[in-house]
Amino acid sequence: MKFDKILFASHNAGKISEIKNMLAPLGITVVSSADVSFPDVEETGKTFAENSLLKSQTIPKTFGIPCIADDSGLCVDALDGAPGVYSARYAPNRDFDKGIDKLLAEMDKSANKSRAAHFSCVVSLAYPDGRYELFEGRVDGKISFEKMNGSGGFGYDPVFIPDGYDCSFAQMDKNEKNKISHRGRAMQKFKEYLMSL
Ligand code: IMP
Repeated sequence: MKFDKILFASHNAGKISEIKNMLAPLGITVVSSADVSFPDVEETGKTFAENSLLKSQTIPKTFGIPCIADDSGLCVDALDGAPGVYSARYAPNRDFDKGIDKLLAEMDKSANKSRAAHFSCVVSLAYPDGRYELFEGRVDGKISFEKMNGSGGFGYDPVFIPDGYDCSFAQMDKNEKNKISHRGRAMQKFKEYLMSL
């Protein structure tokens, strides 16, 4: 292993604890941008990779240690890939219950009747000298006609049914979702990269 400390560009408590747990067995300490009071970076990119890099490349120059970030979203075929990189902003006041209503209504109005969709995630690792690595994960599935709420999940989970399943992401066990999810797959590639160093 080439480094034992990494910055994670996020203020999302759930994501921070997930990454800390994942990297602890590899002997890597995770410090978040919340820990070092570094503000959130504006997501002005047009792709998940651009946004992920915007977040991860801003911080290492200041702190001199490698930094990781992720960017993710839901892409719906019938909406030409929307909400995509705008997934968080698409939901009125970040209220995802309302965001899902908006999504279902727009799909209803669309001439394209496909229910196909996928979640994408790009994890980026930026080094202080400007080098970087990208790790991509994707999960395909379909959008249900109604919310299928469960005890878990967040965001658009209640309407996303991954291929090969009858239940929504929100109805799946957290570990089961992590095994097949876009973020889980991107993080797995990142972990394999770390172990190869
Ligand atoms: P970000 O990657 O933190 O910018 O989040 C993008 C947005 O995409 C989130 O606010 C969610 O709305 C949506 N999203 C990303 N991953 C998931 C997921 O696993 N389930 C449900 N929604 C997700």
